[in-house]
Amino acid sequence: MSGIPAHTLNDGTTLPAIGLGTWPLDDAHAERAVLTALDLGYRLIDTATNYRNETGVGRAIARSGVPREEIVVTTKLPGRHHGYEETLASFEESRRRLGLEQVDLYLIHWPLPRVDKYVDSWRAMIKLREEGLVRSIGVSNFTVEHIERLGTETGVLPAVNQIEMHPYLPQEELRAFHAEKNIVTESWTPLGRGTGLLQDPVVVTIAEAHGVTPGQVVLRWHTQLGALPIPKSADAERQRQNLDIFGFTLGSAQMMAIADRVPQRTGGDPEVHEEF
Ligand SMILES: NC(=O)c1ccc[n+]([C@@H]2O[C@H](COP(=O)([O-])OP(=O)(O)OC[C@H]3O[C@@H](n4cnc5c(N)ncnc54)[C@H](OP(=O)(O)O)[C@@H]3O)[C@@H](O)[C@H]2O)c1
Repeated sequence: MSGIPAHTLNDGTTLPAIGLGTWPLDDAHAERAVLTALDLGYRLIDTATNYRNETGVGRAIARSGVPREEIVVTTKLPGRHHGYEETLASFEESRRRLGLEQVDLYLIHWPLPRVDKYVDSWRAMIKLREEGLVRSIGVSNFTVEHIERLGTETGVLPAVNQIEMHPYLPQEELRAFHAEKNIVTESWTPLGRGTGLLQDPVVVTIAEAHGVTPGQVVLRWHTQLGALPIPKSADAERQRQNLDIFGFTLGSAQMMAIADRVPQRTGGDPEVHEEF
């Protein structure tokens, strides 16, 4: 491994402190991007059934020459497969597309509160973990209320909650709850895709002061807050930069200045967003 710090999860396993996102790459592009990333030292790869690139991700893992046990593969259950039996069947399809014996981290992609089946899916995920088919189980886009319900009804809390997080949406409240429950916060859209964040004069000035790029500043901000970012890049040089963020430290005034902005969500609101 390449000196990437690690998070210890509430189930005793570990995750590297940064990973690679793969949306919206198709199979061929995902295969290429993941191969490059593994070669550069990435060891956490994020995909989902709904990204339709699990086959490409799996091919890259098989071709990479990196020992399988060093790589953490994350995939996600889509909304159309919520429910106990549906989750077991959906997982089996993901595992087949990935070509893996075991998936390292399996997440419920969205809670879909109106459908109200995420607890049934969670029970299936607990079974998959007990059977050793999944190493760690978690959720994505869950609120405090959704997570508390999992705990109350099953006694098992997720190891990870993957949520939209970037300086326009710093998620203080949810992060404080995660810290209390020993749940790792993974940040999706960590670079604020589409918001102009990387051109923001505050971020650019801080980057110049450290002799790094705006992307590196933003990713360092995540890791200093204890969050685990999963930036997507299909470009080898940007992948390299995004991984190289542990050699400098942002000061507390810089940390505050980076997040001192009007809150803005780029994706769906977990209370109402429906994605099948
Ligand atoms: N759980 C969920 O509901 C959910 C939702 C959305 C996303 N995700 C996951 O989170 C991952 C990341 O989120 P995202 O793809 O939305 O956004 P992001 O990682 O914030 O931004 C990706 C964009 O930034 C560019 N980029 C990457 N590194 C850069 C750098 N150093 N400097 C300048 N530009 C850079 C990429 O282009 P190039 O490829 O050309 O470098 C791409 O256009 C996704 O790929 C996916 O795995 C999860």
